[in-house]
Amino acid sequence: RAIHLKDYRVPPFLIDRTELHFELGEKATLVKSRLSMRRNPDSDEGDAALQLHGDTSLVLRRLQLDGKDLSVSDYQRDDESLTIAQLPDNFVLECVTLIKPQENTSLEGLYKSNGMFCTQCEAEGFRKITFYLDRPDVMSVFTTTIVANRQDYPVLLSNGNPVEQGEQEDGRHWCRWDDPFKKPAYLFALVAGKLEQVDDSFTTQSGREVALRLFVEPQNLDKCDHALASLKRSMAWDEQVYGREYDLDIFMIVAVDHFNMGAMENKGLNIFNSSCVLANPATTTDAGFQRIEGIVGHEYFHNWSGNRVTCRDWFQLSLKEGFTVFRDAEFSADMGSRTVKRIEDVSLLRTAQFAEDAGPMAHPVRPASYIEISNFYTLTVYEKGAEVVRMIHTLLGAEQFRKGSDLYFERHDGQAVTTDDFIQAMEDASGIDLGQFRRWYSQAGTPVVEVSDDYDAEQRRYRLKVRQHCPATPESDSKQPFHIPLAVGLLDEQGNDLDLGDGQTTKILHLTEAEQEFVFEGIDSQPLPSLLRGFSAPVKLRYPYSAEQLVFLMAHDSDGFNRWDAGQRLAVDLMQGLISDYQQGRELVLDRSLVEAYTKVLSDRSLDPAMVAKLLLLPSEAYLAELAEVIDPEAIHLVREFVKRELAQALQGLLMDAYRHNRSEGDYQLNADAIARRSLQNAALSYLMTLEQPRILVLAQHQFASADNMTDQLAALSLIAHSGFESERQQALSEFYQQWQQDPLVVNQWLSVQATSPRDDSLTQVKALMAQPLFDLTNPNRVRALIGAFCGQNAVQFHRADGEGYRFLADQVIALDKLNPQIASRLLTPLTRWKRYDSRRQALMRAQLERIMAGELSKDSYEIVSKSLA
Ligand code: ARG
Ligand code: ZN
Repeated sequence: RAIHLKDYRVPPFLIDRTELHFELGEKATLVKSRLSMRRNPDSDEGDAALQLHGDTSLVLRRLQLDGKDLSVSDYQRDDESLTIAQLPDNFVLECVTLIKPQENTSLEGLYKSNGMFCTQCEAEGFRKITFYLDRPDVMSVFTTTIVANRQDYPVLLSNGNPVEQGEQEDGRHWCRWDDPFKKPAYLFALVAGKLEQVDDSFTTQSGREVALRLFVEPQNLDKCDHALASLKRSMAWDEQVYGREYDLDIFMIVAVDHFNMGAMENKGLNIFNSSCVLANPATTTDAGFQRIEGIVGHEYFHNWSGNRVTCRDWFQLSLKEGFTVFRDAEFSADMGSRTVKRIEDVSLLRTAQFAEDAGPMAHPVRPASYIEISNFYTLTVYEKGAEVVRMIHTLLGAEQFRKGSDLYFERHDGQAVTTDDFIQAMEDASGIDLGQFRRWYSQAGTPVVEVSDDYDAEQRRYRLKVRQHCPATPESDSKQPFHIPLAVGLLDEQGNDLDLGDGQTTKILHLTEAEQEFVFEGIDSQPLPSLLRGFSAPVKLRYPYSAEQLVFLMAHDSDGFNRWDAGQRLAVDLMQGLISDYQQGRELVLDRSLVEAYTKVLSDRSLDPAMVAKLLLLPSEAYLAELAEVIDPEAIHLVREFVKRELAQALQGLLMDAYRHNRSEGDYQLNADAIARRSLQNAALSYLMTLEQPRILVLAQHQFASADNMTDQLAALSLIAHSGFESERQQALSEFYQQWQQDPLVVNQWLSVQATSPRDDSLTQVKALMAQPLFDLTNPNRVRALIGAFCGQNAVQFHRADGEGYRFLADQVIALDKLNPQIASRLLTPLTRWKRYDSRRQALMRAQLERIMAGELSKDSYEIVSKSLA
């Protein structure tokens, strides 16, 4: 049954105070709650009954109203709730429930991970802990007392500040936490375990001292520095850029091994998937370090964009997620290379989010309905949501945007609000009309922007004609025009930017209609347009660039993002041609333009090596798939490999120079320059390995064996493991495992290397790995590393013509859905794209979806499968 935004009503009751008391036990955990409640004066539901959310798994032991026991006839229970009629205007409700965290494999609510108790309550996990108004617009002050055996659970944590603790005679101890800030239940957290801590501190701009504490299992104490350093940078950045200070005396992060997502912003007590917080150079790649910095920032920034100001209902999820992703992206851009960060974010958006927008689960940034909210923690809500906020930033400019965010935080502090409230604050502070812009929140789909131009030499006039349209999506097939900020520059024959007025070289064109014309006067010669600079809007841009023009833009565009994108367009055009050549049985021949462009890139010593590495990276198979009419995974894979090999052949010398020049043996450093050099070194090696020459293999083997960091070791491992050198690959894989078997995060990387091998035996290998004791279906990181990587990042093998990849995924989803519905439904994504493939594959994929549908399913998987088959 679907829930609709249009049915929103304010809660009929409020909870002013929430007092929780947990007795953690191995057989069962007792949860006592004391809720100080009253009728909501803003509700028009009169004497409505109180309907508390509560999962079927809750065992109700006692229920008291104002100190008097209620009996079974005083309330009603169904699968999802408990209802009490006839209540006074003010009352205290006390409730004792019994739960079994040790049996909770959904990793939602209270559960156990490696012997420690922890929680995940967003979005609707609190109702698996006790009966409550588990909706974000019910905000309450929480006090939490935790009682547990001291031996096994020396550390007892919850939100806010620790206020009291004590010992009991039975070997148990207790701790009480007080969170002075009102919050919805989804931000509640509890942790109990045998944890070690690393302490640090941060002094806020107003001079308050905040204790920072990272809790980990003892074996991970050497992996804490980076997260703590990232946290301090985040805190300083939010003060500088947004004027936001931290508000409690203590900020804690806990690393747990079993976690459905990346991390969670619980007030004062962030809980992280260990893979998103633990790092050291020997075990973590450069990409891993950067990811951790971004996620630590993301969760910290939620303290304001999410916690102090939260969501009215889950349709507004992007209010906090889109805004916070925008904030963390800007933070990362400021900490490292802005252009490289932008390239990475846009790559993700254009492959995965665009694919989502084109599939059966397409939804607006603010969805209008859902069956299971967990399914809407999507690329659209997060990444496209962040692009929408970025466009507001572009439309307002940095200064007005800051005024808008100040007003938003001030106006709504302590409230649960909507995306519309956010836009309103931006409008009110800046005086800029965002009326039409609001459509980005309500219309799904990726707009297509088609540009053509003409130049009139006599009139010295250049004209851009722009058309926009947006394809149909499940919620609507007729879309109104979007307000699209199109950032444009014009290049002269030397490749210099033209002055577009007041010394401006980039101009924002406001597309607001289906068709528009923009005229530039006083242009002395035919310019070359650089369109959608910095990817100023999440759209598909079409302009008939020639290969020559793209090579020119690649060499001259002053916009770093568009320089890179020109290279991508050039490669895409050539590869699309080759894909159809391959399909028609024609011989493959690589056009010289790409070789020439790459030669320039590799010889340009003025370029940042990180940028060179990005420019050298061919469009991914996933991006080529997204762009295809009908996806042919085999042709895409073979053509991409062909182009890579041809380039490697033609550029051997330059690639070898780049490899040698950027390789550093010993003297590991983690800074922008060293990371950039490693990225180019490994990009070069990856090209060279396609030549299948023994001397290159030796180079990779040497790098593998002598590496003092995981970036170099893993890059070499995956190249060797994906190569045709049979005994060498076996040996490298087994050496790596021997070296790292004690480190679960590295073992996950080892699993992913094997799962993403394009070799024909990879499904067999994946199945063999699953049969080993190291594999564990109840650990999402393991599942993602092996099953997720095979089905989501190994298109050529997942889409095997015999359909065995599909059958394998369906088997896993069916098994997982019983244990962890959120993970099962996420895993399904590749099957939902069945309409994009040839009819044979379509039938095979559909058959597996139908097989899944035939069994009993969680809401999570039911929603995805039923919408895919609709
Ligand atoms: N709010 C968390 C974050 O983005 C993610 C929580 C995900 N929860 C879920 N049920 N999918 O930082
Ligand atoms: Zn978030």
